[in-house]
Amino acid sequence: MKRLLITGAAGGLGTALRSRLAPLAETIRLSDKTVLDDLSPSEEFVQCDLGDAAAVEALVQGCDGIVHFGGKSIEGPWSVINNANIQGVINLYEAARKQGKPRIVYASSVHAVGFYPQDQVIDNTAYPRPDGLYGISKVFGEAVAHAYHDKFGQETAIVRIGSCFEEPRNHRMLSTWMSFDDFAAMITRIFDVPKLGCPILYGMSDNTAKFWDNSNVDWLGWKPQDDSERYRAKIDAAMPKPAPDAADVLWQGGLFCTDDIHEEE
Ligand SMILES: NC(=O)c1ccc[n+]([C@@H]2O[C@H](COP(=O)([O-])OP(=O)(O)OC[C@H]3O[C@@H](n4cnc5c(N)ncnc54)[C@H](O)[C@@H]3O)[C@@H](O)[C@H]2O)c1
Repeated sequence: MKRLLITGAAGGLGTALRSRLAPLAETIRLSDKTVLDDLSPSEEFVQCDLGDAAAVEALVQGCDGIVHFGGKSIEGPWSVINNANIQGVINLYEAARKQGKPRIVYASSVHAVGFYPQDQVIDNTAYPRPDGLYGISKVFGEAVAHAYHDKFGQETAIVRIGSCFEEPRNHRMLSTWMSFDDFAAMITRIFDVPKLGCPILYGMSDNTAKFWDNSNVDWLGWKPQDDSERYRAKIDAAMPKPAPDAADVLWQGGLFCTDDIHEEE
């Protein structure tokens, strides 16, 4: 690609993945509402609030691919989620539709399916069961991606990311963890395949513990290399195992499924 746009580039995933994704394009256009100034020679920065349609239209101009990380990434007040994850997603897809439909990686979440029990293995045909306002906004984004694909031919990989951090941080994340390297390899395949369509993928490494089945997307040729199992002893030593009736054990979305995690305006 000539130019790859990464939104939300100042966040955790943007920070971890921008150098890993550098080989995908001559120029990486980083964007966030927060200013980034530690740019490499092949990076450029455009400050933009996703809720501003005109600014997003200018942001997408000249981009051949988009990795959409920007937005509210946990539960929060509806006004914030609405601006970043609802209006922001519409702004992004409208901008893409008008400007050559660059392929999009859409960062959806486990919280789009958070209310599936952990003892049920689900694949990418699972109907959404969001666990809060944040999860609802992710389901909205998935619907936008499908509609823009069916109606306009816009291609998107919808990635229901589990827990993409340096290491899994608790027992539930042993099932949901995805390493940065595995995510970068996934995104590389997403931009490499000749025809993408609009598949849903679960964003997890090749974990021994899991409740997701990615076999419907084997055709992508993505083979995650890491396994959270190597962190199990460390997590066991660092914290007690949660009780069998704890939300973190019952539900795929863990603590997001409790009403403690609900932020009012
Ligand atoms: N990291 C994970 O494990 C994980 C899991 C599931 C889903 N996701 C999704 O992946 C994406 C990236 O996650 P992250 O962990 O890097 O999150 P993060 O919160 O660290 O980064 C998100 C970035 O988006 C920016 N942002 C927020 N609102 C904005 C707006 N209105 N306009 C422009 N920029 C805005 C923030 O400034 C931030 O830099 C998010 O969409 C998140 O929902 C991440």
